[in-house]
Amino acid sequence: MSFKEKIDINRLPRHIAVIMDGNGRWAKEKGKLRVFGHQNGVKAVRDTVEAAAELGVEYLTLYAFSTENWNRPALEVTALMELLVATINKETKTLMENNVRLNAFGDLKSLPSKCYKELMEAIDKTRNNKGLTLNLALSYSARWELIQMAQKLAQQVENKELASTDISEDVVSSLLCTAGMPDPELLIRTSGEYRVSNFLLWQIAYSELYFTDIFWPDFRREQLYEAIANYQGRERRFGKTSEQVI
Ligand code: FPP
Repeated sequence: MSFKEKIDINRLPRHIAVIMDGNGRWAKEKGKLRVFGHQNGVKAVRDTVEAAAELGVEYLTLYAFSTENWNRPALEVTALMELLVATINKETKTLMENNVRLNAFGDLKSLPSKCYKELMEAIDKTRNNKGLTLNLALSYSARWELIQMAQKLAQQVENKELASTDISEDVVSSLLCTAGMPDPELLIRTSGEYRVSNFLLWQIAYSELYFTDIFWPDFRREQLYEAIANYQGRERRFGKTSEQVI
């Protein structure tokens, strides 16, 4: 039986975030270069996006490249950027067919200009799609995001547009990359690592965390269904007691 049959479609998470990890180890196991793992990671991205869109998930956020990833060997960084450009180019058609709206956040200006340009074009092409919103976190880290937010807040206070006493959770949320989106109810990390690695630190305050040993290139729709079914089996208490949330 597929995990899909276990999913209650009326209780889907609205927003799923994914730390795609294990591409390098997957390739190493096969005696291949790390980039081979990233290339195969694209298949997992495609399958996951299609499955999430089909189910009716509203937002899917993929951690595609972290601020810290710039410190990888230059060859790997270049290969990842090229893969990104090629994938965006190739997949825009599939995004259109699946009614997916592409979005990206992070320090996008630090991306190679070709990559930035392709990304903006694809975002523009898909901007009227009404299905899943696919967020690519690129050159992103949560600490970077929180610093941007603090700078904007300080500026608003300095300009007397905002009183410091008016700073609230809503104000902070509205200045983050995910402004206007619900926080992820479910965060998935592949490859058997139990870390959040500087990803959406504010937004995951109450997310259910789901870890799987599978390496990202092997992740397919069935694994997504399994993660969602697992999430639906949990009791979300938000600090209350069990009796209060029934
Ligand atoms: C982590 O595996 C993966 C990445 C840093 C890159 C993710 C990129 C892709 C899946 C390909 C392109 C993505 C899109 C959205 C088109 P790792 O290299 O850290 O693996 P390791 O921990 O085994 O070394």
